[in-house]
Amino acid sequence: MPNSISIICLATLVICCFSLLLNSHSLFAHAKEADRLSLLAMKSQLQDPLGVTSSWNNSINLCQWTGVTCGHRRQRVTGLDLRQQSVGGVLSPFVGNLSFPRSINLPNKSFRGEIPHEVSNLFRLQNLTLTNNYFSGKILTDLSHCSNVMKFEASNNKLEAEIPVEIGNLLMLQILNIAENHLKGQLPASIGNLSALQEIDVRGNRLGGRIPSTISHVRNLISFNVARNQFSGMIPLIYNISSLQYIFIHTNRFHGSLPLDNGVNLPNLRYFSISGNNLTGSLQDSLSNATNLQGLEINGNLFSGKVSINFSRLQNLSRLNLGENNLGTGTANDLDFITLLTNCTKLEVLDLHSNRFGGVLPFSLANLSITMTEIANGSNQISGTIPDVIANLVNLNALGVESNQLAGTIPLAIGELKSLQMLFLNENFLRGTIPSSLGNLTLLTQLILEVNNLQGKIPPSIGNCQNLILLTTRKNKLSGTVPRQLLHIITLPVLLDLSDNLLNGHFPAEVGNLKNLVSLDISSNMFSGEIPTTLGGCTSLEYLGMQDNSFTRSIPSTLSSLKSITELDLSRNNLSGHIPQYLENLSFLSFLNLSYNHFEGKVPIEC
Ligand SMILES: *[C@@H]1O[C@H](CO)[C@@H](O)[C@H](O)[C@H]1NC(C)=O
Ligand SMILES: *[C@@H]1O[C@H](CO)[C@@H](O)[C@H](O)[C@H]1NC(C)=O
Ligand SMILES: *[C@@H]1O[C@H](CO)[C@@H](O)[C@H](O)[C@H]1NC(C)=O
Ligand SMILES: *[C@@H]1O[C@H](CO)[C@@H](O)[C@H](O)[C@H]1NC(C)=O
Ligand SMILES: *[C@@H]1O[C@H](CO)[C@@H](O)[C@H](O)[C@H]1NC(C)=O
Ligand SMILES: *[C@@H]1O[C@H](CO)[C@@H](O)[C@H](O)[C@H]1NC(C)=O
Ligand SMILES: *[C@@H]1O[C@H](CO)[C@@H](O)[C@H](O)[C@H]1NC(C)=O
Ligand SMILES: *[C@@H]1O[C@H](CO)[C@@H](O)[C@H](O)[C@H]1NC(C)=O
Ligand SMILES: *[C@@H]1O[C@H](CO)[C@@H](O)[C@H](O)[C@H]1NC(C)=O
Ligand SMILES: *[C@@H]1O[C@H](CO)[C@@H](O)[C@H](O)[C@H]1NC(C)=O
Ligand SMILES: *[C@@H]1O[C@H](CO)[C@@H](O)[C@H](O)[C@H]1NC(C)=O
Ligand SMILES: *[C@@H]1O[C@H](CO)[C@@H](O)[C@H](O)[C@H]1NC(C)=O
Repeated sequence: MPNSISIICLATLVICCFSLLLNSHSLFAHAKEADRLSLLAMKSQLQDPLGVTSSWNNSINLCQWTGVTCGHRRQRVTGLDLRQQSVGGVLSPFVGNLSFPRSINLPNKSFRGEIPHEVSNLFRLQNLTLTNNYFSGKILTDLSHCSNVMKFEASNNKLEAEIPVEIGNLLMLQILNIAENHLKGQLPASIGNLSALQEIDVRGNRLGGRIPSTISHVRNLISFNVARNQFSGMIPLIYNISSLQYIFIHTNRFHGSLPLDNGVNLPNLRYFSISGNNLTGSLQDSLSNATNLQGLEINGNLFSGKVSINFSRLQNLSRLNLGENNLGTGTANDLDFITLLTNCTKLEVLDLHSNRFGGVLPFSLANLSITMTEIANGSNQISGTIPDVIANLVNLNALGVESNQLAGTIPLAIGELKSLQMLFLNENFLRGTIPSSLGNLTLLTQLILEVNNLQGKIPPSIGNCQNLILLTTRKNKLSGTVPRQLLHIITLPVLLDLSDNLLNGHFPAEVGNLKNLVSLDISSNMFSGEIPTTLGGCTSLEYLGMQDNSFTRSIPSTLSSLKSITELDLSRNNLSGHIPQYLENLSFLSFLNLSYNHFEGKVPIEC
């Protein structure tokens, strides 16, 4: 008996298995048919100008349809990837009829409308990528049914309203990227439930309030980006999430100070960007422990006091931006930390501008890494001279030490900084001549020397700086004539300001070459002779200031070509003759000063 029972059992088992197989086979066939029908239904709502989905037809196996991927064994649709395709339109609710998709990836800039609710039927879905489209409406609350979702990316869309609390149910979620939408409200506290989360990116929305304290439960977080929102309160409790590599909280309304031990607990930190908030207190030495730091951007806050970070431990530091704070004490040792930065062999950017740093520019500046591209130390209380060894930093493309108390001369050696594009030396006490070596800086686009005590002639070599778009030497003691070469920089100056110097002689006729010149100020000098007739060639001019010189004779008729001019000041010269009638026809002219000259006849009425 036991035998027959077992035989019957075996037989039943075999039959069971067989019918199960049959059943599941027809189930697969059925699923595949459902997939086919849903894809065809979706196709009917796609815009497809290039016929990408023409392969979605009955004579071809759906696993060979463009953008469709199937599982190897069972030939079921497991993915829809249209990234490289130019199809768009509306995502049809029929998407919810697909039976086994694990990933859906839609192309750029071509889908609009709402994300259909039926997406929440896709309980096997792992990755949903809707980046760079025009999806509007809310983030689905019932997306939380898709409990396998690991990656939800919908940045750069037009999603609005609040982030649903239900997002906290996506327990498998690793990447949440909903940056650059129109989301408002708060970050839900339920986010603290997402223990698998590695990346949160909600930058560029209208989110506000406090970051929920539950964030400290997300123990695997690598990247935390809430930049450019309206978050307030203290910096969130992320300091002991030791996995963190990227913290971007810039441009919000955070206040308070950095906790003492932040660096200690963030050994993997690579980027710490907290600029544009209302943070106060001092820069903690503890940041020295974040030895993997590549970028430290704290600009635009209210930090104060001495900078006591031991930068020599931050060997990978490449960007250091401390600008626009109240850092420094205005005293001698404020910039000592620059010596510690010489150990950072990958440093590229050092921005200290608009602080209270005092003391002299340390010579160790020259020992900074050869990789330096930008030094911005303007608007501080820095004294001393510009060390000529700065010429070591041959890759610099911007050097700004403006608005300080620097004395001495402009080192000749600056001409060796061949990559320099911007040189800001204005508002200091620099004396001596403008070194002719500046003419070696052929990439220079902006040269700002105004408000110093510079003397002597403008070197003709400046004419070699064929990329200059902005040159100002206002308020110095420059003398001699204007070199013709300067006015051969054809590409040239959008702004040329030589005002308030002791320049003399005729103003060169070559000025007519400067077709791009928008603003020319040569006022308060000692120029004499006639106003060059060629000035009429500067057809882009909007501002022309020639007042306070000794120009003679009449206003040339060619100035009638200055169709864009809005302000014209020729006052305080020795001009004579009739006031030209064409001034009435210069339709943008809103300011005209001809006083203190020897004109005769009528003043045009229309001005
Ligand atoms: C189906 O798609 C294939 C591949 O794109 C194409 O060659 C064929 O002409 C299509 N058939 C129909 C009926 O549209
Ligand atoms: C979509 O945008 C990304 C990033 O801008 C780009 O790399 C990709 O080539 C774009 N794809 C298409 C199909 O335009
Ligand atoms: C497919 O989806 C549509 C729209 O969501 C629904 O009305 C329909 O019942 C579904 N069909 C099947 C066979 O599941
Ligand atoms: C989902 O994305 C993750 C991370 O990018 C990737 O490792 C995984 O293979 C993707 N899964 C599917 C089904 O595409
Ligand atoms: C998820 O987070 C919320 C808010 O922090 C909490 O009340 C809830 O109990 C959490 N749910 C689970 C399943 O952990
Ligand atoms: C992390 O910091 C928060 C707030 O300071 C604290 O509540 C939590 O216990 C800390 N967790 C660990 C693991 O240190
Ligand atoms: C900083 O605080 C001041 C004064 O409370 C406020 O006016 C300003 O808007 C705040 N700025 C930011 C970026 O939060
Ligand atoms: C850096 O970390 C070490 C060990 O974790 C700790 O002893 C030290 O106090 C920290 N230094 C600073 C400046 O925080
Ligand atoms: C600096 O970065 C390199 C790789 O880029 C890495 O191997 C090294 O550990 C880092 N150094 C420090 C001090 O973190
Ligand atoms: C900074 O760190 C370096 C390297 O760890 C160490 O040798 C030096 O003593 C420290 N300097 C200061 C001022 O803490
Ligand atoms: C530079 O870093 C090394 C470790 O890489 C350290 O030994 C040295 O003391 C540092 N130099 C300075 C000036 O702190
Ligand atoms: C730089 O300019 C000076 C003066 O104009 C010139 O004598 C010198 O040869 C130039 N040096 C280089 C390397 O071009």
